[in-house]
Amino acid sequence: MNIGTPLTPVATRVMLLGSGELGKEVIIALQRLGVEVIAVDRYPNAPGHQLAHRAHVVDMTDAEALRTLIAQEKPHLIVPEIEALNTALLAEIERSGSTRVIPTVKAVQLTMNREGIRRLAAEELKLPTSPYAFADSQQALQDAIEGGIGYPCFIKPTMSSSGKGQSRITGPEQVAAAWEYAATGGRVNQGKVIVEGQIDFDYEITLLTVRALNAQGEVETSFCAPIGHLQEKGDYIESWQPQPMNALALQRAQEISKAVTDSLGGLGIFGVELFVNGDQVWFSEVSPRPHDTGMVTMGSQRFSEFELHARAILGLPVNVDLRRPGASAVIYGGVNTEQLVFEHVEQALAVPESDIRLFGKPESFERRRMGVALATGDNIDEARERARRVVGLVKTRDGA
Ligand SMILES: Nc1ncnc2c1ncn2[C@@H]1O[C@H](COP(=O)(O)OP(=O)(O)OP(=O)(O)O)[C@@H](O)[C@H]1O
Ligand SMILES: [Mg+2]
Repeated sequence: MNIGTPLTPVATRVMLLGSGELGKEVIIALQRLGVEVIAVDRYPNAPGHQLAHRAHVVDMTDAEALRTLIAQEKPHLIVPEIEALNTALLAEIERSGSTRVIPTVKAVQLTMNREGIRRLAAEELKLPTSPYAFADSQQALQDAIEGGIGYPCFIKPTMSSSGKGQSRITGPEQVAAAWEYAATGGRVNQGKVIVEGQIDFDYEITLLTVRALNAQGEVETSFCAPIGHLQEKGDYIESWQPQPMNALALQRAQEISKAVTDSLGGLGIFGVELFVNGDQVWFSEVSPRPHDTGMVTMGSQRFSEFELHARAILGLPVNVDLRRPGASAVIYGGVNTEQLVFEHVEQALAVPESDIRLFGKPESFERRRMGVALATGDNIDEARERARRVVGLVKTRDGA
C-alpha cells in the first residue's frame, strides 16, 4: 500500500460523504496517515468541513451534483458516513473503475433501506431476527400485526435512522398514530414501514466488526470487544465496553456478524447491532461504517473505531485490542441556538480518566447530539459513572 503527499499529484485522496461527528474522527485518522481528505455535507461548516483539505456543500441525493463533484475531485475512495445518498450514482462511479466505494455499493444500498438488510439477514442468510412484516398502508399494517406480529411491536419507516418516525405500540388503538408518525418521520417518504415484534432482550450490543487485509493481502475479519448501550427513543445515550457476555452468546454474535459482513463485503468497519437474551442472539441492523455507540472506543481501545476504519479502507492491518474498560455518554445541546457555549468544561475534565469531544456543530437543538463524554476505569461501572458525571458537570447555554 502506497500513500502519497497531500495536495500534490501523488496524493491519496479520500472523499467523505457526510461529515458529522463520526466523519470528523475518520478525517482526523486519515490525515494522521497523510491522506488528502475532501469533506462533503449538506450544510456548511459541518464538523468534518472544519478540518478537511477541502469542504463542499452538496445535496448528496442529487446524482448530477455528486457526479460533478466526484469528477472534479477524483477521489480514490468514497467513504459514506450517512445513509441518504444517491446510490445509483455510486454504483455508476464504482463501475467506471477508478474510485472504490467503502465498503461496497451493495452494502450501502442494502443498509440504507431497512427492507434490504432485513431480507438479506433473515431470508437469505437465515439469521435470527425479530418477527417482521412490511406494510404500505395503515390497513396492511393493522393486518400484519393482527396476523401474527402482535403487541408490543415497533413500527419504523423503511428509510430512516436515529429513531426518526419510529414508535413502539402496545395496542390496536395506537396503530393509526404510529402509521401517521412513520409516514411523516421517514427520510424519504416512501409510504412503507417495517413492523417488528418486540424482542425481550437482557441487553443490546454493537459488535464492531472489521474487514481488513492481513499481511498476506487476504481479507480477515476481526471483532472488537462487544459494546453495550442504552437507547432512548431510538437514540443512543450511553455506551460501554466490554459488555460482559456468556461465551455462547458471544460466539453466536460473532457468527452472525461474520455472516452479515461477509455478505456485504469490501473493507472497513461495520457496527452490527444485536439483541441478547441469555445465550440467544438476534440480528437487528448494521451500519457499514463506524457506529455512534462506538465512540466509546476513543477511550477504551488501542485504536478507535475511526482509526480502524481508516486503516482498513486503506488496506492496512488493524489491531482491535481493548486498552481499558470504557464508557461514553452523550452531551445534548439543551437549547436551540447558533452560538452554543459549553460551561464548566474544566470541572468536567477533572473527573479521573475522563475526556470529551465537542463536535463544533454550527447549530444546536435541544435534543441534538453536540458532544460526547468519554471515560475509562477499572471496570465498566466505574467508567460509566465517570462518563455520566462529566455529562452532569458540563452545562450548555445560548451564548447569543
Ligand atoms: N424489535 C425490537 N425489539 C426490541 N427493541 C427494539 C426493536 N426494534 C428496535 N428496538 C429498540 O429501539 C432501538 C432503535 O431501533 P433501530 O436500531 O432499529 O432504529 P434506528 O432508527 O436505526 O436507530 P439508530 O439509527 O440510532 O441505530 C434499538 O436499539 C432497540 O433499543
Ligand atoms: Mg439502530
